[in-house]
Amino acid sequence: MQHLRIKSLKEYKETYQKSIEQPEQFWDEVAKSFLWKKEWDTTLEWDFTKPEVKWFQGGKLNITENCLDRHLEKRGSKTAIIFEPNDPKEKAQHISYKELHAKVCAFANVLYNNGVEKGDRVCIYMPMVPELTIAILACARIGAIHSVVFAGFSANALAARINDANCKILLTADGGFRGDKVTPLKSIADEALKSCSSIEKTIVLNRCNLNISLSENQVWWHEELYNVNNKFEAVAVDAEDMLFILYTSGSTGSPKGMVHTCGGYMVYTGYSFLNVFQYKNEDVYWCTADIGWITGHSYIVYGPLLNGATTVMFEGVPSYPNFDRFWQICEKHKVNQFYTAPTAIRALKKHPISMVEQYDLSNLKTLGTVGEPINEEAWHWYDEHVGKRKCPIVDTWWQTETGGIMLSSLAGITPDKATFATLPLPGIQPVLINEVANVIDDVVAQGRLAIKFPWPSIARTIYGNHERYKDTYFSAFKNMYFSGDGALRDADGDYRITGRVDDVIIVSGHNLGTAPIENAINEHEQVVESAIVGFPHDIKGTALYAYVVLYNDVSPSEFLKIEINQFISDKIGPIAKCDKIQFVSSLPKTRSGKIMRRILRKIAANELNNLGDVSTLLNPEIVEDVIKGRL
Ligand code: PRX
Repeated sequence: MQHLRIKSLKEYKETYQKSIEQPEQFWDEVAKSFLWKKEWDTTLEWDFTKPEVKWFQGGKLNITENCLDRHLEKRGSKTAIIFEPNDPKEKAQHISYKELHAKVCAFANVLYNNGVEKGDRVCIYMPMVPELTIAILACARIGAIHSVVFAGFSANALAARINDANCKILLTADGGFRGDKVTPLKSIADEALKSCSSIEKTIVLNRCNLNISLSENQVWWHEELYNVNNKFEAVAVDAEDMLFILYTSGSTGSPKGMVHTCGGYMVYTGYSFLNVFQYKNEDVYWCTADIGWITGHSYIVYGPLLNGATTVMFEGVPSYPNFDRFWQICEKHKVNQFYTAPTAIRALKKHPISMVEQYDLSNLKTLGTVGEPINEEAWHWYDEHVGKRKCPIVDTWWQTETGGIMLSSLAGITPDKATFATLPLPGIQPVLINEVANVIDDVVAQGRLAIKFPWPSIARTIYGNHERYKDTYFSAFKNMYFSGDGALRDADGDYRITGRVDDVIIVSGHNLGTAPIENAINEHEQVVESAIVGFPHDIKGTALYAYVVLYNDVSPSEFLKIEINQFISDKIGPIAKCDKIQFVSSLPKTRSGKIMRRILRKIAANELNNLGDVSTLLNPEIVEDVIKGRL
């Protein structure tokens, strides 16, 4: 695929132009550099009013042949995955393409023997170990649909996701190492399974030697491997068959299972990985995300493997055993491309600069960020101390829904600019929309960010709820995909993301909806209602502030705050805990009973001079009280 790598600014401009003038021809050419079992009949069929998007219809493929088999002849012994364990004393593993292929085939046999067939949903609740990647690819090899659930989610959150997708099999581990903690994944999974009737079998990996026992319908991963060989013919699937479901938060209560399909997702993640990171043959690439999120799916697993890259998988956290762990790993594995989140950069930046400087980072060529807007200070620190001012920084804007990177510079090819995601990738047609829902034609503009033409890896639906998909993404503006983000565009045409414009809050790069957190708090028997807003936070970017109304006979206490956070942790997971909880006598509401989050947001952020008009509220007097009790 290296011939698809854009090599100059001029070539980017020409490629971009072609991609919007003749999108079908453009994507046809890109798609042809992949391995298809049968070529497609029609490149694109779409109708955003339904909405319906179909790429490469009639085409048949298996993405794992593109990730694995295709590389065997030329680079079978090249390292596909470098696994860096949580504990630096444990040896790193280097898994070659040949070995990965064999392991994926063997595990596909295990899945098959346990009843998994094409189209079945497999839930994967696992730590960041190579078996997670192997499991994902084994599902894809069979044509089964994987639904990876981040291993930091609670039993409730796991159960909701298993039930939503009606998963047949659960893959998990006894536990997962993260820093100095062990997450007891199997016992969390057991708790979840009490309310999941669709799961027929659970396959358990022994990662932590926790000495657990298995019950009926639960089997050990390693024992299942005893009886299988390492050959498994990749099942031919249709381009528009589902590859995976991945849940993301929305502004209403339940998580949205975004559906990605095989052909388009393959083409777009493969193409975008190559071009954004400018990956070259012997490079070592490291994305620090967790595979439980879309970044891990697209740019730890699929994008790199489609390109025959060496991808680092790190089990641990940036602070363990010390805050120099990232830099130590970069030196140890001679990392060339390093992709992380602004929240990690801000956390690491707080520590003495010697933590970075003691390591040899001279192999770094490209730095990347993703997940939230990066502030100017963090950008410059990253540029100066990590990249030594010689590495381009790709600030990549995209979403679970988009499947792949939409706006970003191409490392060293198109210019980067602090705090700007910069330009669209070929094939991506962004627009800014004003208050009256019209496209803004001026180059310099600020508005809501939408996309006016489909790209191959756009999510096709929300699993089991196409109406919600339509409402959330296609109802705000006619014939457009609406991202939920605001952005501005400068005179160079570069985009800068200003943040969410809906009730989704990005905390440490994690996408959290206010509704599920409020629902969790409201389940506490002493709580009448609550409202969650974000407020600026040094490291997390944005942190959560909860306003909670208690029943009249309940006295507010610190203990109650701990209990409320415990409730959130149990229902969703520790990532959704609130930094601040303020008890209030009531919440400011509009006359139609809607909570005025705008005002609460400003109070939390201490922007008290600028509260706007409160006279339209049902209960304007409450605002003074809330301000007085501000934390
Ligand atoms: O608000 C944007 C923010 O993250 C949201 C998507 O979250 P999620 O689906 O979890 O995917 C995160 C990883 C792709 C977006 O709507 N976001 C993502 N990347 C950036 C960003 N905000 C600013 N700059 C970015 N580079």
